[in-house]
Amino acid sequence: MKAQSVAVVTGSSSGIGFETSLLLARNGYHTYASMRNLEKSKTITEIANREKLPLQVVQLDVDDDKSVKDAVYKIESEQGRIDVIVNNAGYLLIGPLEELSIKEFKEQFETNFFGAIRVIKEVLPMMRRQRAGTIVNISSLAGRIGLPLNSPYVSSKFALEGLSESIAYEIEQFGIKVVLIEPGYIKTNVASSFKTGKNVVVTADNKNNSPYAEFTQNRISALGPRVEAGLDPIEVAKVILKAATSENPDLRYLVGNGAIKLMDMRKIPPMRILEN
Ligand SMILES: NC(=O)c1ccc[n+]([C@@H]2O[C@H](COP(=O)([O-])OP(=O)(O)OC[C@H]3O[C@@H](n4cnc5c(N)ncnc54)[C@H](OP(=O)(O)O)[C@@H]3O)[C@@H](O)[C@H]2O)c1
Repeated sequence: MKAQSVAVVTGSSSGIGFETSLLLARNGYHTYASMRNLEKSKTITEIANREKLPLQVVQLDVDDDKSVKDAVYKIESEQGRIDVIVNNAGYLLIGPLEELSIKEFKEQFETNFFGAIRVIKEVLPMMRRQRAGTIVNISSLAGRIGLPLNSPYVSSKFALEGLSESIAYEIEQFGIKVVLIEPGYIKTNVASSFKTGKNVVVTADNKNNSPYAEFTQNRISALGPRVEAGLDPIEVAKVILKAATSENPDLRYLVGNGAIKLMDMRKIPPMRILEN
């Protein structure tokens, strides 16, 4: 790593983004821990101050063109370069397709997919001029396999996978690397930050006799324990650091034994063994 390498992480207010910003800073990157709501910056700032880390907080909402432009402009003015960008900001929308609106699907894509594009488009000219840089996109195991009631999330992550694989060929000529991180369940705020569609019903509220209510209820009830049993987000941060510091990173990094095992199982038909 060069002495003044600069890293930017989106969605650093909690979970994977929080741990990744700290780990990159602890490993010498001048790190911009970006987040859409600066009121959530207290903890990371306290840790950075206590440990005297090269970490700064910057406002960045990946849904907002101006916010992304302003953040990248500020970083370019202050540092003149960005070596690593970690597109981590994202959320999980839950519900059966029939009960989700197109608007809700679009919002899911706005953050998980277009948000990453918005940031990448803003940093690419700088990385191209540098003839160096690593773009790390936080996908998911759900970027490789379908999951019931997660169709917007899964689709957004599949899209991110396709985008990343395609641009990797486009920009390798400029010395820019693209990496996909594919975690299984990770113990973060995801079990509380997930959204359900406005018209998605669960059993307790099934006045309209939704045929999906019980299934939805069961999946939502199972999410908390699954996330709780997941890996510590620091494990994802370590993989991101490894990819960011590698001369020749892989395109894809599965994170967690569960994710690795499931992808191995995927090679064995029939697909129905993966249900539940
Ligand atoms: N946890 C898992 O099991 C898991 C597994 C595979 C992949 N992932 C992926 O990992 C990434 C991080 O999620 P997490 O698990 O760490 O969940 P998390 O703790 O809920 O963190 C999500 C982060 O994204 C931010 N965010 C959401 N929308 C944003 C926007 N429009 N602009 C900027 N920031 C935004 C959140 O900010 P606020 O605090 O302002 O909401 C928060 O900082 C996501 O892309 C997720 O899909 C998670």
